[in-house]
Amino acid sequence: MPQIKSIGVLTSGGDAPGMNAAIRAVVRASIYYNKKAFGIYRGYDGLIENDLVELNARSVKNILSQGGTILKSARSEEFRTQSGREKAIANLRSRGIDALVVIGGDGSFTGAHLLYEEHGFPVVGIPGTIDNDLFGTDYTIGFDTATNTVVECVDKIRDTAASHRRLFFVEVMGRDAGFIALRTAVATGAQNAILPEENMKIEDLMAEIDESYQAGKTSNMVIVAEGNRLGAPFELAQKVKEKYPQIDTKVTILGHLQRGGAPSCADRVLASQLGIGAVEALLNDKAGIMVGMKNNELNHVFLPQAIKNQAIIDLDLRRISKILSI
Ligand code: F6P
Repeated sequence: MPQIKSIGVLTSGGDAPGMNAAIRAVVRASIYYNKKAFGIYRGYDGLIENDLVELNARSVKNILSQGGTILKSARSEEFRTQSGREKAIANLRSRGIDALVVIGGDGSFTGAHLLYEEHGFPVVGIPGTIDNDLFGTDYTIGFDTATNTVVECVDKIRDTAASHRRLFFVEVMGRDAGFIALRTAVATGAQNAILPEENMKIEDLMAEIDESYQAGKTSNMVIVAEGNRLGAPFELAQKVKEKYPQIDTKVTILGHLQRGGAPSCADRVLASQLGIGAVEALLNDKAGIMVGMKNNELNHVFLPQAIKNQAIIDLDLRRISKILSI
């Protein structure tokens, strides 16, 4: 690989708390190693439109604690086309950028991989998504903060659920993965979590709800992953109401509030480790990979593996959730 003198960084896809901490780490690590750093705005859209600027160590001051992304984000349609990617490469070359760090999730990494494969352009991915659905890292940046946000909200809902003896279905994000749902179900003592990875039957849910009332519970929480196969929360609440008219059911959809807020300590540290890890990987001639943390150690996986090898739901957490919700 030719010697890298200048590194670009962008955030792409759904934003996640801690993306700013990762940008800061990439920029400062680049400068620490005497390379130039460029920030690219609005993900791949900004790359195609040449919307980028050189950053220095001070450009990223005071962003470590901020949610969102100072570089903005987008899900670029044009980058899905070959001509879009050719424009992006032409801009990178004309601005003298020799390598790229992409902070995002699976969609962003699909684009990054194409850039690497079609044009041989050195790219490294940093897992930044609240969904935690990438293989090769124990946690993605933003997951810890999002789960803490969910826990705070569900605790509050539980107060009112208990006062009114209600059953709440709380929908959480995660696209087609149930990491947020399962972890927060354990952390909030929810009756159950309905996960995309499982094929729960409506009868099983009904029976479990029934049992919990028989066991003396007067209120209940069920965490519903948005991508689950059993049904949308309003639908589930309606079905329960039809079968058990005495149960007062309510639905809360937490939505995008799960993506905002100041990153947790864990996300700031992870973002800092991965930001430096990404720059060091590039400077050591590694490309076409994602950097992650596994068992507290930096880990490299090829981008297609990170996307397709499917992060696995922790079955032991599932067991814990079941035992503790009797
Ligand atoms: O991937 C992050 C995520 O928040 C998913 O959990 C969710 O399904 C999706 O993005 C929502 O996307 P948008 O912000 O485009 O509605």
